[in-house]
Amino acid sequence: MDTTAPEAGTGPGTGADLAGTGTDALPDLADPAFWRLPDRDRAAGFAALRRLPAPARFGDGPGGGSGGGPGRGFHALVRYADVVEASRTPAVFLSEPGVTTPEPARWVRLLFGDSMVNLDDPRHARLRRVVSRAFTPRLIARVEDDIRTVATELVDRVERERPGDFVAAVAAELPFRVICTMMGIPEESRRAILDQVDHASEHTGVARPLRERIRMPGRGLRALARMQGMVAELGRERRRRPADDLISALVTADVDGRRLTGRELGAFFSLLLVAGVETTRNALAHGLHLLTSHPEQRALLLGDPDRHLGGAVDEIVRHATPIIQFRRTLAVDHRLGGPGGPLLRAGDKVVLYYGSANRDETVFTDPDAFDITRSPNPHLGYGGGGPHYCLGAHLARQEMKALYRELFTRLPEVRSIGEPVLIPSSFDHRVRSLRFTF
Ligand code: HEM
Repeated sequence: MDTTAPEAGTGPGTGADLAGTGTDALPDLADPAFWRLPDRDRAAGFAALRRLPAPARFGDGPGGGSGGGPGRGFHALVRYADVVEASRTPAVFLSEPGVTTPEPARWVRLLFGDSMVNLDDPRHARLRRVVSRAFTPRLIARVEDDIRTVATELVDRVERERPGDFVAAVAAELPFRVICTMMGIPEESRRAILDQVDHASEHTGVARPLRERIRMPGRGLRALARMQGMVAELGRERRRRPADDLISALVTADVDGRRLTGRELGAFFSLLLVAGVETTRNALAHGLHLLTSHPEQRALLLGDPDRHLGGAVDEIVRHATPIIQFRRTLAVDHRLGGPGGPLLRAGDKVVLYYGSANRDETVFTDPDAFDITRSPNPHLGYGGGGPHYCLGAHLARQEMKALYRELFTRLPEVRSIGEPVLIPSSFDHRVRSLRFTF
C-alpha cells in the first residue's frame, strides 16, 4: 500500500510525508484478509484511511490482492466529498471499461453485451433513456400493488411454516418475485433463473482460493449464457405478442428511433437481477438484525411505523451499505477537490467506497450509531448522485417499507438470533443466512 498523496511529476509513493498519522494501523484494502475481518474492524480501518490527507493507493505491489501487479493498483476514495465528486463528474471519472472487480474480460462484454452500469455517455444515456421511459406510472403502480401482495404472502408463509433462515425464506424471495413480476417472467421459468443468478454473481469481488477462482468464472459464464438465452427468447415472444410488462416495454420501446436488442435486453436483465435482488435481499437481512440489536430503535419504529418507516429504511441502507464499492477510471489528469488537491493521472483507477463515505464524521454526527430519526440522512448507499444513480432506489425503498410494515405489525416479536453469517466480499455486504424467530 502507498499512503502518500500522488503529486504531479512524482507518481505514487513520493508525496506528502505521513509520519505521525498512525499509518502503521492502516489496512490494506487489496488484501483479501481485510475483507474477512468483522464489520467493526473494517469500519475502524476505513476511519483511519479517512484521516489521511490524500487517498491511499493499493494493489500495486507483488501479491497485492485483488488489484495486485504493477499498474493495476487503485486509489481508495473513502471520504464523502471525494465519492460525490467522482460520481458527479462522469466526463473525468469514467465507468468504462467496467466498474466491478475483477474487470469483465473484453470478450465477455462483446459476447454478452454491456450493461449500462459499465457504460459512459452517449451510450449510457441512450440506454438509460429507453429503460427509464419503460418505467411508466402504470407499471410502477402495478408493481407497488404487487410488492404489498408478495409481502403479505411471505409473512403468511413465515407464520405457517416457521422457517429458520430469514434470508432464504423472506429477504431473497421478495425482491426476486417483484423483479420477475415487473419484467413478466412466467412462474415456471423463475426457479431456473434464480439458480443461474447465484452462479453468475458468485465470484464478483469475493476473495477465494486460486483453485476456485479458476473454476468459478467458467461456471458463472455458463450460467450467464443460459440466463441470457432464456430472456432473449422471452423478448422475441413479447415482440410478437406484447403484454403489460417491462420486457414488452423494452423490446417495443422506440426512443430516438431505437429499442433494445436481444443482447441488450439480456445484459439489462442480468444487471437487474444482481443489482436489484441481491442488494435488497442484503439490506432486508441487515435491517432485521439492526432492529434486533438496537431495541430502543425498534420500539420507536413499532410505536409509530407511519412516522418512522421511511427514516428506518434509509438508515438501514446507510448503516449496512449493501454495495461496498464501484470503480471509475480517470479520463484525464485531475486534481481531487480542486486546485491544490491530490493529482490523479489519466488512466488511474479509483475505487469509491460507499460504506466509508456513509460513516464520514464530517457529514454524519455519531456515524457509527444506528439512528432511524437521523435527519437529514444524505447517505450514498444508492450511489453518489450523477448519471448512474441507482435506477431502483425508489423500488428498493418501497420493498423494504412494505416488508417491514407487514412483518413488524403482524409479528411484533420477530427478531434475529445471533450474528448474520456473511460471505466475505469486497464488493457487496452479502449475508448468506440469518436465523430468526417470532
Ligand atoms: C437497497 C437496495 C439497493 C442498493 C443499496 C443499490 C445500490 C446501487 C448503487 C450503489 C448503484 C451505483 C450508483 C452509481 O454508480 O452512482 C446502483 C446502480 C443501479 N441500480 Fe441499484 N441498488 C439497490 C436496489 C436496486 C433495485 C431494486 C434495482 C432494480 C430496479 C436497481 C437497479 C440498479 C441499476 C439498473 C443501476 C445502474 C444504473 C446506471 O448505471 O445508470 N437497484 N445501485
